[in-house]
Amino acid sequence: MGHRICPWWLGYVLASPLRRLLQDPVAITKPYIREGMTVLEPGPGMGFFTREMARQVGASGRVVAVDVQPRMIAGLKRRLARAGLLERTEARLAPPDSLGVQDLQGKVDFVLAMAMVHEMPSSSRFFAEVAEAMKPGATLLLAEPSGHVKKDAFEAELQDAAVAGLEVADRPVIRRSWAALLKKRGQ
Ligand SMILES: C[S@@+](CC[C@H](N)C(=O)[O-])C[C@H]1O[C@@H](n2cnc3c(N)ncnc32)[C@H](O)[C@@H]1O
Repeated sequence: MGHRICPWWLGYVLASPLRRLLQDPVAITKPYIREGMTVLEPGPGMGFFTREMARQVGASGRVVAVDVQPRMIAGLKRRLARAGLLERTEARLAPPDSLGVQDLQGKVDFVLAMAMVHEMPSSSRFFAEVAEAMKPGATLLLAEPSGHVKKDAFEAELQDAAVAGLEVADRPVIRRSWAALLKKRGQ
């Protein structure tokens, strides 16, 4: 698996409204989100999914979005500000060696990991950190681009997730992606 991080300028392309023709961010996330939830989004880029999830959690919920690239975070904040959604969203810059979400331990209802796990230096470390942040019974939607992540590599990610206590609960269909809904054991 390569761990090359997608260049910051690709953030604009990934957040473009044209992407909706291929992947509808509301249809993809809505089955898992309710008002008042705490959502964690590692690797949000410039917020193609963040904005819609912030709408879905409502004023009583929050989305914590963590990216390692300052320019992604800056673009994300600009988009959220334009949409009037900054207050219910926290955009964090990840430290280089972790996601920096220890303060969320046991607080997260839903995690979206879209097209980003293959960029992490260690998927087992990634799943251990997010599993720690999740409530028992919470879910994680994992999707990887089928164009440049091989099926075997995706299945290896699922094995790392299982070691962290995240079991496959469903296999939703997302265009041009490998996808799985994972559930944290314990409920
Ligand atoms: C291909 S982009 C996907 C962006 C977004 N999830 C989407 O689908 O539009 C991958 C994102 O993961 C971020 N990323 C890469 N390594 C990371 C790390 N170690 N911690 C947090 N974010 C990371 C990149 O900066 C980039 O924003």
